[in-house]
Amino acid sequence: MAHPDAGPQHIAIVMDGNGRWATKRFLPRIAGHKQGVDNLKRIVRACAQRQIAVLTVFAFSSENWSRPQEEVTGLMDLLAGALSREVSQLKQDGVRLRFVGDRSGLSDRVQAGLTRAELDTMDNRLLTLNVCFNYGGRWEIAQAAADLAARGEAITESSLSQVLLRNIESDPDLLIRTGGEFRLSNFLLWQAAYTELHFSPAFWPDFDEHALDLAITEYHARERRFGKTSAQVAQASVPPL
Ligand code: IPE
Ligand code: IPE
Ligand code: MG
Repeated sequence: MAHPDAGPQHIAIVMDGNGRWATKRFLPRIAGHKQGVDNLKRIVRACAQRQIAVLTVFAFSSENWSRPQEEVTGLMDLLAGALSREVSQLKQDGVRLRFVGDRSGLSDRVQAGLTRAELDTMDNRLLTLNVCFNYGGRWEIAQAAADLAARGEAITESSLSQVLLRNIESDPDLLIRTGGEFRLSNFLLWQAAYTELHFSPAFWPDFDEHALDLAITEYHARERRFGKTSAQVAQASVPPL
């Protein structure tokens, strides 16, 4: 758990606004999603340069299946394309890829691609990129509880945490949502309990390094109290004599 002065170690992003970015340009929504993939590459690089250890992004929610069939198919094709085109570069760049979400809902080809990408990059240490795909926070918590129940283990806050840490290795320090909406949309419900939130009006394809730096600067100005008083936090940050 980082102190704001240390800068965020783990950033999470709800990459929202691709559709509106495209519509504003009289383009099909899928063109916005394509641009969104390019922007993710830019932000991954920027995070690595800023010594962020973990970046967790929301790419496709359990609820996004309710979109028009054409858009859902387009998003699945984009994932398959990114898996075949982008993984070798990420591997060279030191990025460790992990996918979190219900894989059983995805095609065999995509499932195999996810596993291969994870294995190919598992030794990388510069930055971990968790891609939440076919992911829902409620699904994740229910899965963890079912896992404990199946093993006959007690369901406690700490046992649930232990299971969830296998998916995403730490709680995000900073969660950014682009696209001007002020909600979580079922993202990281457990892990974001004490995360600092930043809402950007920029559509995801327009969210650049400057917008990222603004979010990080704002984070530095926050005081993370975790239930304590301001005086206690100030006391705890005084180095021992
Ligand atoms: C986020 O952008 C990407 C996904 C949900 C897959 P949207 O597609 O939700 O873009 P808007 O919110 O319609 O602009
Ligand atoms: C959240 O965006 C999901 C992703 C960014 C993948 P949505 O656009 O689906 O969220 P709602 O529907 O506006 O809440
Ligand atoms: Mg949206």
